[in-house]
Amino acid sequence: MSNHILIEKQISKFNKKIFVSSDKSISIRTVLLASQAVGISKISNLLESEDVLNTLKTIKKLGINYRKTGNTYIIEGFGLNGFDTQKEITINAGNSGTLARLILGLLVKSKKKVKLIGDKSLSKRDFSRVINPLRKFGANIKSKKNLLPIEILGSEFLRPITYDENIGSAQVKSCMILAALNTPGVSVFNTRASRNHTELMLKFLKYPLKIKKERGNELIEIQGLSQFKGFNYKVPGDISSASFFIVLTLLSKKSGIEIKNVNVNSSRVGIINILNKMGANIKLKGRKTYKGEKIANIHVKSKENLKAINCPAKLNSSAIDEFLIIFLVAAKSKGISKFKDLGEMNKKESKRLDLGVKFLRSIGIKVDRFKDNVNIHGNPNLILSKKFEMKNFLKDHRIFFLSCITALTLGGKWKIYDKDSINTSFPNFLKILKKVGAQIH
Ligand code: S3P
Repeated sequence: MSNHILIEKQISKFNKKIFVSSDKSISIRTVLLASQAVGISKISNLLESEDVLNTLKTIKKLGINYRKTGNTYIIEGFGLNGFDTQKEITINAGNSGTLARLILGLLVKSKKKVKLIGDKSLSKRDFSRVINPLRKFGANIKSKKNLLPIEILGSEFLRPITYDENIGSAQVKSCMILAALNTPGVSVFNTRASRNHTELMLKFLKYPLKIKKERGNELIEIQGLSQFKGFNYKVPGDISSASFFIVLTLLSKKSGIEIKNVNVNSSRVGIINILNKMGANIKLKGRKTYKGEKIANIHVKSKENLKAINCPAKLNSSAIDEFLIIFLVAAKSKGISKFKDLGEMNKKESKRLDLGVKFLRSIGIKVDRFKDNVNIHGNPNLILSKKFEMKNFLKDHRIFFLSCITALTLGGKWKIYDKDSINTSFPNFLKILKKVGAQIH
């Protein structure tokens, strides 16, 4: 079967209400925490994408059973470190950095050796960021050049640690928090801002965890070896998936969209703050709080005359997965947009900073690149008519989504390969695009 799509027409004006798929970060965390809870957890609206299915397969391999009834996954945990690792096993995190980093945190006490592998993209990503703190806890880890495959053997003599997390990575922070759960004593992490779903979920579970703000950082103190009970959770929509529909609407003519029931945690809404600074008028309505998380409906209307931004680097972590699609808005805005310190983008599923710059240049946009900084020379009159072929992007789902939104808003005749990449995070992306009116072959 062919694995490419063709888009040869811009989208016509639309006015729709949609739901996007459920939040990937929260889905992975609910499954992993349910695997450590005492008793039954019921999780509904779980994202059924490859990253999350790999998380379910992983806990199953580690001896935790689950079943699905209707829209709900039922997971039975046996408490902290309740994994049944009687024999040496291999787990495959596929494309998921989040699964790979977080599961290592849960394996610090594993009685048998566990080998962690992943796909081509994940096998190029650096794991020193989690290997270093995990070794400090006392876990035994073997890896060549800090890359997958990694072998981890737990220790009975774990010790709590203090650690400065200075990348601003929620994967690293969460890995350490999960390791601390299994460690006697109090671990203390001084962390740079990043998404805080793990902390919010543990607080909702009444886990002993304290968070203090200190000079822009967060100091997290976590007491190990406290059990928590099974829980119910209904996963909200993913703002990272919504972002492609936000920009589709913004850059189309005379259109509007309401994206319902999306997680709008302040550590995730960088894209809304950035686009509103550029002149968009994105509104959050029907706000509510659910188990510590904020949820709302996102309302967007098309906007002409968007203006360039000098993007404050302090917004980077809250939009880290959205910069590719933000770059597209910058390409269509008046003036030179400036983005700084985006080196982390090159540590994702593909080298997104390099590929993003290459992509913008291929559609005729002038970009100045200075190491981790980029200046994008916007062109509000940008219209495409040439043929474009998108391939060799390491099957990065977000580059696939970016290509589709570019084709539908700016025109051109696009052949986009690796359609299957959408299954990583947003399996019904093309279906929803068609519902909004896109013509895709
Ligand atoms: C994620 C954290 C981010 C993000 C990734 C999901 C998470 O990575 O890019 O898609 O669920 O914790 P980093 O924490 O490494 O920046």
